[in-house]
Amino acid sequence: MAGSGLGVKAAPFTYAAHALAAAAAVMVLVWCVHFRGGLALEADNKNLIFNVHPVVMLIGYIILGSEAIMIYKIFPSLNHDTAKLTHLILHAVATVLGAFGIYCAFKFHNDSGIANLYSLHSWLGIGTITLYAIQWVLGLVTFFFPGAGPSVRRAALPWHALFGLFVYVLALASAELGFLEKLTFLQSGGLDKYGAEAFLVNFTALVVVLFGAAVVVAAVTPAHVDGEEPQGYAPIPVS
Ligand code: HEM
Ligand code: HEM
Repeated sequence: MAGSGLGVKAAPFTYAAHALAAAAAVMVLVWCVHFRGGLALEADNKNLIFNVHPVVMLIGYIILGSEAIMIYKIFPSLNHDTAKLTHLILHAVATVLGAFGIYCAFKFHNDSGIANLYSLHSWLGIGTITLYAIQWVLGLVTFFFPGAGPSVRRAALPWHALFGLFVYVLALASAELGFLEKLTFLQSGGLDKYGAEAFLVNFTALVVVLFGAAVVVAAVTPAHVDGEEPQGYAPIPVS
């Protein structure tokens, strides 16, 4: 996307995004494993099945999808076909893990006799993963296989980037609603409103907001600012 007018390059934002992603991943694991009792796909304590949901949605879907979006800026001198292939594979893995994470939320509900799809979080979540899958298929047929002609690709690219960022922001919003909803359930059940766990969940959600902001800025800023030569590029060979 065109962002060279901002006068900054993407690299520092990709570094910030990586640090915030690592922090968010550790925080969601500490929450679900240490405070909420751990993760399981089969268990008598159905809450352990639920715990897989936030962990996989954050680490498997949002963080992996973010790395996919930033790939062109993380390795600016990478061969373009390799970058494209990495972008499409990472997005595919993120979509599959996202679908698996949602399956775990449904399994928790069904095993516990809780109704499905009653919340704004779940509606936005289903909408998001559906749009994400559509974006992936459109990206594949336009830019990879069978691939559109050069003029169609050129016209489609800004829309691909814009729609991709829109769907990405929807995913962030879904996760924010998820954190809010789960913490509200726990606090209604007696969890200390100012206790360590409540702070951990709210701070995790804040770190995810900062992380998402860094990813969006990395996507809209260029790998190189105007007048700067690409790394490893020398107009006159250095002897
Ligand atoms: C982009 C990421 C996310 C998506 C797409 C998503 C999607 C969904 C969906 C579709 C459901 C409905 C399951 C059903 O009706 O059986 C659900 C349930 C739930 N999710 Fe998420 N989720 C995401 C992240 C999170 C996170 C980070 C949390 C934090 C704890 C969370 C908490 C919950 C809770 C508490 C439920 C059960 C209540 C309800 O159905 O609203 N979600 N999620
Ligand atoms: C859900 C899946 C996808 C999302 C959310 C997504 C999102 C994005 C975003 C935000 C950008 C802009 C990145 C930047 O300017 O730094 C981008 C660029 C691009 N994407 Fe995707 N994308 C997806 C799937 C795909 C697929 C399947 C392909 C097929 C190869 C593809 C091909 C491309 C290409 C060629 C670019 C342009 C890279 C450049 O600037 O040279 N995308 N994508």
